[in-house]
Amino acid sequence: MTIQPALPFSELDPLTADLPLSVWVTGQQDSRTQRRGRYIPASMAHPGKMLPAIARHAIEHYTKPDDLVIDPMCGIGTTLVEAIHLGRDAIGVEYEQRWANLALANIDHAADQGATGGATAIRGDARHIDELVSKDVLGRASLVLTSPPYGDSLHGQVRTTRDSGRPNVEKYDNHYSRDPGNLAHRSLEELMEGFTEILTGCRKLLKPGGFLAMTVRPIRRCGVLVDIPTLALAAAADAGFTPWERCVALLVRIGENALTARASFFQQVNTANARKNGQPLHLPAHEDALILRSMPLA
Ligand SMILES: C[S@@+](CC[C@H](N)C(=O)[O-])C[C@H]1O[C@@H](n2cnc3c(N)ncnc32)[C@H](O)[C@@H]1O
Repeated sequence: MTIQPALPFSELDPLTADLPLSVWVTGQQDSRTQRRGRYIPASMAHPGKMLPAIARHAIEHYTKPDDLVIDPMCGIGTTLVEAIHLGRDAIGVEYEQRWANLALANIDHAADQGATGGATAIRGDARHIDELVSKDVLGRASLVLTSPPYGDSLHGQVRTTRDSGRPNVEKYDNHYSRDPGNLAHRSLEELMEGFTEILTGCRKLLKPGGFLAMTVRPIRRCGVLVDIPTLALAAAADAGFTPWERCVALLVRIGENALTARASFFQQVNTANARKNGQPLHLPAHEDALILRSMPLA
């Protein structure tokens, strides 16, 4: 395949050269069902996992068997597990030892289930990813698939009164560790700076024309809506990537006559409370899957 040089995004005519759009049907099963038997149960503790169907869709569409897939912020290893089940190889980096250990355990579990690719998860700071992987990985990867951490407080899991014997519903696993090297604890500006560094390093691992797929969605911080997709696109552009495709990865189930939202207990409670306070909030129905490529600029 010949890699055409790309015009800078700012010079594209939005009418004649807009990006292709597509919708990924990735929410037909809820997250627990997608993971049951395929991931070790302790994986559920991670507060910000990617839906396995989203990882699978991206890997199937942007790579071929035996290609190498990278996830610089791999959490419990969703990208790695789905990649090796599809016969690709994969390398992940994860800052927190707890999640890196779970990623390794999930890789072993997938191998026991017959996954044919090979993968590893390295504990480290992905801002130095090009120094964490062996030199022969540079320029070899076909896809970087990732999702950045958005903040240190997440929806997590719930323990009901029936589970705990105590009067109120309790949250647990709703925070990353308190280590400041985890970008989840940084200000938005620092998070995006760190993310840009990570993507700059990842670009060195990609082949010319290799893909970057990021799943992101807007968040609220202190009641203010933050457009994470636009910030992530800007970080990727600063790292030298060229926008290629805009995709909607569905979190809802498409039924015969309706779309059914899938939301955690706390998403439902937060949305109901916000509505009572006059905020027009909706349950999330999709994530943006932003696809870019590593191309020489014209
Ligand atoms: C949104 S989660 C990714 C979850 C992953 N896709 C999965 O399905 O498990 C982002 C991850 O980035 C990790 N992280 C934060 N700062 C990091 C850094 N500097 N280097 C590597 N990983 C980092 C967090 O610990 C968290 O697990």
